[in-house]
Amino acid sequence: MLAWLVEMGADEAIEDEPIDRFAAHIAAEEEAAARSQRPARAKATRSGAAAPPLPAQPTAPDTRARAAECATLDALRSSLESFDDCALKKGARNTVFADGNPQARLMIVGEAPGRDEDRQGLPFVGRSGQLLNRMLAAIGFSRHAEAPEQAAYITNVLPWRPPQNRDPSADEISMMLPFLHRHIELAAPTVLVPMGNAAAKTLLETTTGITRLRGNWSEWRGIPVMPMFHPAALLRGPEKKSVAWADLLQIRERLDSA
Ligand code: URA
Repeated sequence: MLAWLVEMGADEAIEDEPIDRFAAHIAAEEEAAARSQRPARAKATRSGAAAPPLPAQPTAPDTRARAAECATLDALRSSLESFDDCALKKGARNTVFADGNPQARLMIVGEAPGRDEDRQGLPFVGRSGQLLNRMLAAIGFSRHAEAPEQAAYITNVLPWRPPQNRDPSADEISMMLPFLHRHIELAAPTVLVPMGNAAAKTLLETTTGITRLRGNWSEWRGIPVMPMFHPAALLRGPEKKSVAWADLLQIRERLDSA
């Protein structure tokens, strides 16, 4: 059982006391049934026999309306912190919203928090984040620089860590996408840099992989976009560092001339 739990990603104690999720689930089912005025687990047919329970029909929450009503980054952060409809949040310690200078002209979008980010509540603070800091420094940028011209603002497609750092599902991404879109609108960067497959494909709404996307400018709602390899990919394959350097130089050039 323990091995199975670890495999499912339940490898950390989140709360001090255990929570009986089964009891919570049954209570939620009963409440939903009471609201729709039908029994939770069985429904009488015309013949009087009990029909098999109907599968719960989760309606996708309207995250577009929720995100659109946020007028500031602080409002967006609070809205995410009180949003409970994404299952990833239940397994996460923290909502990882953003780090860096929100006035920055450079905005970086990663995939999702890993273990270190989940613990600290900040994006890119683990090994990938340390490499990202060095990459930024190499072109004269830093996430905490006061001057927007030298600063970076960093977020992720998803604000919660997927269990065991698995790839985010298409449903998770589409549920949370309006928040990312609103995040970019509110930060209004001059250049947007999605890092890795998930971020680049999500932002550019394409199935083309990062190997072909990187190094080429495109646009998201009028903002220039330069997709790059994810720092984790550079750690795994240092031979990719030379093209990442070329991409960084293009970003620097674009920002210098903007
Ligand atoms: N990888 C990401 O994509 N984002 C983080 O915040 C950390 C690692």
